Amino acid sequence: MKEYRPPLAGRQGLRLDFNENTSGCSPKVLARLRKITADDLTRYPERAPLEVKVAAKLRLAPHQVLLTNGVDEAIHLLCETYLESNHEAIIVVPTFGMYELFVQQTGARVVTVEANTPDFTFALARVLAAITPRTKFIAFASPNNPTGAIIQRSDLLAILGAAPQAAVLLDEAYFDFHGETFLPEIERYENLFIARTFSKAYGLAGLRTGFLAADMRTLNAVRKVASPYNVNGASLACLETALDDEEFIADYVQQIAKGRATLEKEFALMGIQFWPSRANFVLCRIGEAHKEFVIAMGERGILVRDRDSDPGCAGCVRITIGTAPQMEELLDALRDVCSKLRIAPMRAGAVR
Ligand SMILES: Cc1ncc(COP(=O)(O)O)c(C=O)c1O
Repeated sequence: MKEYRPPLAGRQGLRLDFNENTSGCSPKVLARLRKITADDLTRYPERAPLEVKVAAKLRLAPHQVLLTNGVDEAIHLLCETYLESNHEAIIVVPTFGMYELFVQQTGARVVTVEANTPDFTFALARVLAAITPRTKFIAFASPNNPTGAIIQRSDLLAILGAAPQAAVLLDEAYFDFHGETFLPEIERYENLFIARTFSKAYGLAGLRTGFLAADMRTLNAVRKVASPYNVNGASLACLETALDDEEFIADYVQQIAKGRATLEKEFALMGIQFWPSRANFVLCRIGEAHKEFVIAMGERGILVRDRDSDPGCAGCVRITIGTAPQMEELLDALRDVCSKLRIAPMRAGAVR
């Protein structure tokens, strides 16, 4: 198996490297967390009542929702449920590394399909060509990490129709920043699984909460594989408050949209190639100096993520969007570091 070692150690400074919320969760969630009692903690957590609440919020039936320990666990459970060692899983790259890791654990064969270059649009024809009767899992994210690209509805439906034997995972971890969902499609496609997380816009990565939404028959199979106590009591206690504070999310998403536009404009001005993003991060191409760039930004107290080793991402760096003052800090450092490292314009503007 490949190892997945996120560069966690230390992480001091402005954290623009993990696509986290950069200004903290809703104060209401924090207040709820502070009310947790010793008695609350003595109990094994009960997931089902919260699944009813999440489902109601999303206008789904309770059995169409399975709460998970982050999207990471959702991916793990899907792989455990659907894959055996003689199966194949299609992963559309570049993307989030955990799909491949969890597929590998089952012994199934990983079949990677590269997004179209140079704009990272979805490679529908190559995905369709890769589907075989042994394909039991297909995973992609929309908006995708690290590219910020989205999948078109017609592409998703074509895949769902072409692989009825496979669990098709559409990871909507960055849904809040994009605002468009394929959730209603679970009524029509039994093989569609949609994952969401509270780790990004909600600012609750430390609580490890996410969910899978799917047709209740297929989701029931995944539910059998899950521990009944997979989501801890503190997370469950906060979930309803987090969901109800819609104003907090709307405000944060608006700040991120502004910050993203500011950064994309600056990249265009500086002649740094970038990919227009629908998420809370932007991928840009720094070029050969990518390593030095990440180190120099770190020295200025700003953590960004080197994505050079991702397929099709040579010389690329991913930068998470923060609040307006954080973006000011970022832009100052960006201008300074690029001029010191003589990072020359490669190809001005956005790749569309
Ligand atoms: C596409 C995607 N899915 C899932 C996750 C992880 O979500 P969680 O924190 O809920 O496990 C990430 C985190 O970076 C991600 O980029």
